[in-house]
Amino acid sequence: MRMVDLIIKKKHKGELTKEEIDYIVTNFVSGEIPDYQMSAFLMAVCFQGMTKKETYLFTEAFAHSGDMVDLSAIKGIKVDKHSTGGVGDKTTLIIAPIVASCGVKVAKMSGRGLGHTGGTIDKLEAIPGFKTAIDRDEFFKIVNDIGVSVIGQSGNLTPADKKCYALRDVTGTVDSIPLIAISIMSKKLAAGSDCILLDVKTGSGAFMKTVDDSIELAQEMVDIGTSCGRKMAALITDMDIPLGNNIGNALEVIEAVETLKGHGPEDLTDVCIELAANMLYMAELGTIEECRKLAKDKIHSGEAVAVLARMADAQGGDGSYILDPSKFTIASIKVEVKAPKSGYISHMDAEGVGIASTMLGAGRETKDSIIDYGAGIKLIKKTHDKVNEGDVIAEFYTSKEELTEPAKKRFLESVTISDADSKVEPLIYARVTADKVERR
Ligand code: URA
Repeated sequence: MRMVDLIIKKKHKGELTKEEIDYIVTNFVSGEIPDYQMSAFLMAVCFQGMTKKETYLFTEAFAHSGDMVDLSAIKGIKVDKHSTGGVGDKTTLIIAPIVASCGVKVAKMSGRGLGHTGGTIDKLEAIPGFKTAIDRDEFFKIVNDIGVSVIGQSGNLTPADKKCYALRDVTGTVDSIPLIAISIMSKKLAAGSDCILLDVKTGSGAFMKTVDDSIELAQEMVDIGTSCGRKMAALITDMDIPLGNNIGNALEVIEAVETLKGHGPEDLTDVCIELAANMLYMAELGTIEECRKLAKDKIHSGEAVAVLARMADAQGGDGSYILDPSKFTIASIKVEVKAPKSGYISHMDAEGVGIASTMLGAGRETKDSIIDYGAGIKLIKKTHDKVNEGDVIAEFYTSKEELTEPAKKRFLESVTISDADSKVEPLIYARVTADKVERR
């Protein structure tokens, strides 16, 4: 078999066989297939797509390219969730402790920031001492004792995805439905949970910009997981507007803690309650409405925030930062960004806001960049707010003065101020399961 023939076959929209797919994955991971051939193949997939069968076979081959985690040492039902990525998306830090405080186990492997989107592992590392790399026995012990542990992907989990994602990031081949489905579902299948809830983001800050594309991606992933014997559901949630008000690692942990204490922004709180309720429902703790109430009760009783503090302590971090988030150090340079004119913020391009936050030091410009955990953006005004010229719309935090001007320019290019407001869109657009799509 020759890789060049398989690239040409895909270029002409041919359907690859299982043997051909296994050949590509095995030889790409071993290094026999060079990055330039894989890049050409990925671009062909972006233009020609994949059949459902190919997507499934690639997912299986990616999942089995490394370790398959066996979670049977953890007692009870294990529920996982995965977001397709967004700006200000700190939901895992809120949902995982809520679900764990209801007695459902969350053994979660998360990722780092990617492009303009943040990553849970970077956020957790903003807690002093927090270890995101711990051995498997310790991980299982923490989940058994506290109900939740969140770690980075272990060394040999889906190496095919690790290599492929790095290539996609720099070859313009991220926003392909089959490639995203393979990437996410291979990791979720390898990570071993019984139930998987997908949070498929849609809008200007998401990889999928339209609701229809997001539903198609959700269906593809739900079908793959269902075929592999997992209980699956997906929520299509808004990412046209950054979620919550804080963007940047320490700032997002602070906002997550405020939300867990019942004082979070409304959009973030509502999305988290809905996601947590769906995870609890999948674990069969009641009807969706009963599970919503359960999730809210765990916030109001203080049990959920206590679980996050215990998890931080168990993973080597200082849990007192969770109980008292004023202890976090925020970057010392603060710059206010003001509205250039009066009107309504009719649109705030979430991707642009995420890029501005990265430019302040909150994300990586290159693979090897060092993150400034205290850097980021606090949004004072968001889409649909009325502003007067000169009103502060955002506060920037950074450790390097020279980063502020370019970031401000990028941020202001992302904000549209108009005489009239734009249409208010829902926070949750749809719920997708194996047999139906319920649009809201
Ligand atoms: N998140 C992933 O893990 N993979 C993708 O391809 C996109 C988002």
